[in-house]
Amino acid sequence: MFILTAIICSVIFILRFSACEEQIVDVRKTLVWGPGLKPDDIVLPARYFFIHAVDTNGKKFESRTYLKFQVHINGNSPHGKCRYNLNQIDRADGSTIVRYTIADWCDNLEINVLYNNSHVAQSPYLMRNKVYSERCYCPQELNLWLLNNDCAAFTEDKQISWDLHSFKRVNFSAIRANLLKRYNAPESISLCHYVVKNQQIWRTCYGKYTGFKMFMDATLSALARVVLLPDMEFYLNLGDWPLSKKGGQQRTSGPYPIFSWCGSDDTYDITLPTYDITESTIENMGRVMLDMLSVQKDEYSWEDKEEKAFFRGRDSRRERLDLIDLARKYPDAINASITNFFFFRNEEHKYGPKVPHISFMDFFKYKYQLNIDGAVAAYRLPYLLAGGSLVFKQDSHYYEHFYSKLVPYKHFVPIKRDLSDVIEKIEWARANDLRVKEIVANARAFVEENLLPQHIYCYHIVLFKEWSSRLVSPIEVLQGMEKVNSTYTCSCKEKMPRDEL
Ligand SMILES: *[C@@H]1O[C@H](CO)[C@@H](O)[C@H](O)[C@H]1NC(C)=O
Ligand SMILES: *[C@@H]1O[C@H](CO)[C@@H](O)[C@H](O)[C@H]1NC(C)=O
Ligand SMILES: *[C@@H]1O[C@H](CO)[C@@H](O)[C@H](O)[C@H]1NC(C)=O
Ligand SMILES: *[C@@H]1O[C@H](CO)[C@@H](O)[C@H](O)[C@H]1NC(C)=O
Repeated sequence: MFILTAIICSVIFILRFSACEEQIVDVRKTLVWGPGLKPDDIVLPARYFFIHAVDTNGKKFESRTYLKFQVHINGNSPHGKCRYNLNQIDRADGSTIVRYTIADWCDNLEINVLYNNSHVAQSPYLMRNKVYSERCYCPQELNLWLLNNDCAAFTEDKQISWDLHSFKRVNFSAIRANLLKRYNAPESISLCHYVVKNQQIWRTCYGKYTGFKMFMDATLSALARVVLLPDMEFYLNLGDWPLSKKGGQQRTSGPYPIFSWCGSDDTYDITLPTYDITESTIENMGRVMLDMLSVQKDEYSWEDKEEKAFFRGRDSRRERLDLIDLARKYPDAINASITNFFFFRNEEHKYGPKVPHISFMDFFKYKYQLNIDGAVAAYRLPYLLAGGSLVFKQDSHYYEHFYSKLVPYKHFVPIKRDLSDVIEKIEWARANDLRVKEIVANARAFVEENLLPQHIYCYHIVLFKEWSSRLVSPIEVLQGMEKVNSTYTCSCKEKMPRDEL
């Protein structure tokens, strides 16, 4: 790689007469940062940090290069040496994401980051305190946790203030019965009432299809392992569509507070990060293949990407079918297919045949990604923003918890709801490749500040803290509630927490 860089440089030098030097990594100037460097204070399902190579002239690497950083961890554990699992996600721009999990706990933990056998930046990183696995029950006091996790940016979050604006003072004793009267419709609505009290999680669910409660169970359990949760209660909508409609009856009764994974301009629902991004946070380096870190792996260089817009997805909205029409009319601009027919099964002959799923990472073979609503907002947007291609986002009144912070033409290219300007926007992108690359870089910077595992944790806790402060009725475990069993494999206290509570 180095030899290659040198040769390309000299060719350019001869052709352009410009000074072009081989970039040599300066291990002391190279940047290493991220929450995974403070694993004694910051407990995440997978700890992660970043390395970005800087050369001897103090310039960050940018062009496509693969640099081999060696990272290893030392320390003592109940099993002898620290047991850990580590992997690197190479972004091929001189930067890499390092992430790791540890088993149980680890004393005198030391993180070594090496390049060509030399320590990089401040390596070795030494921890003064014992480091616990995320699977340990070891909750920190809430405000300390917020401080350790650098959640300050979220305490002023626009979406949280908008969502809570209508709920300054919530007396559940006064509204529970009416809320249920309004929303207990087992055939069409699935809803769970959660109560968190003394770090224990309780719930009652209503509706026919309540399988998705497992996501909130897992989220609250994971949070309870690392932070002392405020006592609180809330109703969570397990369905796709937000429920608390503006206007109509609500004008007189006031809106009911309902937490949903998707919000919309015409409802009062309080948005939580989707079950999808939250699960990929909690199961990072575990059960999930795709998450906000792994999706950043660079598999296709910008130059090699096809200058086409790409789409795969179910038939969950009419515009997705319209897109198939467009793709047929403009095969040089759009590659789109439906992976499953369900909502418009009787039109399969027209818009089919359905095609098999392809790996999400292979989406990024294409320069342009189409984000078109499904039943509600398409929960793939975070991954598309992180993936290194340009996102075309359909205009929509549905949103996830972070959309209000996205800026058109800074982080994505907007397209009309009826897709009538898609071709025009693709032509614009093709003619403005430099601008497009800038937008792609901005999108990734946005992800780094808003959508990584630490931010998903912050958002939940900041929202829960705010929310709990508005509840005026006593928080009580109600009759008939089921306890969500806590899941942990160890504890940082001598006694297991069960005894203390
Ligand atoms: C690695 O270090 C050695 C000497 O310490 C040096 O000669 C060599 O050029 C370095 N290699 C790279 C790839 O930086
Ligand atoms: C909440 O509502 C109940 C029932 O309407 C009422 O008895 C109680 O005083 C209210 N509590 C507060 C703090 O407003
Ligand atoms: C569309 O994309 C798929 C997946 O990358 C590819 O296999 C197929 O050949 C593409 N179709 C066209 C017409 O380019
Ligand atoms: C919790 O554990 C108890 C006893 O093992 C079991 O009966 C109960 O169903 C579990 N609750 C949940 C929500 O899984």
